[in-house]
Amino acid sequence: MGSRRRNFLVAGNWKMNGSLAGVQALAAANADGAMARLNLVQLVLFPPFLYLPEAQRCLGDSGMAWGAQNVSEHESGAYTGEVSAQMLREFGCACVLVGHSERRALFGESDAVVAHKFLAASRAGMTPVLCVGESLQEREQGATEAVVARQLRAVLDLAGASAFTDAVVAYEPVWAIGTGATATPEQAQDVHAFIRRCLAEADAEIAAGVHILYGGSMKRANARELLAMPDVDGGLLGGASLNVDEFMAVAITAQRLAQGVT
Ligand code: PGA
Repeated sequence: MGSRRRNFLVAGNWKMNGSLAGVQALAAANADGAMARLNLVQLVLFPPFLYLPEAQRCLGDSGMAWGAQNVSEHESGAYTGEVSAQMLREFGCACVLVGHSERRALFGESDAVVAHKFLAASRAGMTPVLCVGESLQEREQGATEAVVARQLRAVLDLAGASAFTDAVVAYEPVWAIGTGATATPEQAQDVHAFIRRCLAEADAEIAAGVHILYGGSMKRANARELLAMPDVDGGLLGGASLNVDEFMAVAITAQRLAQGVT
């Protein structure tokens, strides 16, 4: 058994991809209980909203959790097209992605809106998965830490450090998302350690327990070296999560690492 303080979390963000049949295929891959045997890895699926009832039906006792890719910051009311945290709870969602870079860049979600979404998810009893990360230009300008610190600060200021007791942070450098370019393990580790230090300034104990996932072109071929980094507690996979075999291969890699198998 390995000595990691935090078990791995491997999550699949389908974005606006996948299908009803895809959810069923994932469940079928678990017909022999493979997911439950990954006892040192928590698996989470983030399908589009419409597939959440099917995820609930198919994955209920698989050992895999499911969650939404987005949530309204409002509780209820005249917000056409939005989905509330309570509604997600009703469909068994354990987690919600907040602040994914595509939401920030394409749908204009500000740090403040992201912070309110984080709080809405938290208050409804779900684990917010707060996505942070810099663009290529910001990295080239040496602004990576400033950007990530600002994104974290917005949430810390609104929700407080205690809200991170049951929260996950996903470091997703924008330049690595969907591009095939992956952060090197060292680049990922540096930012993950920085994120943990930022949280530790608010509460050291909570910071030590927070899962920090890496996202950005993670796949079977590079998962091992990324997951071997001490502050990389799992992965948030986009493209690679659409292929059941690829996704499960990353999960098995995480399980082996957790078991100390080299
Ligand atoms: P990718 O996406 O794995 O396709 O780069 C990751 C994400 O956006 O969460």
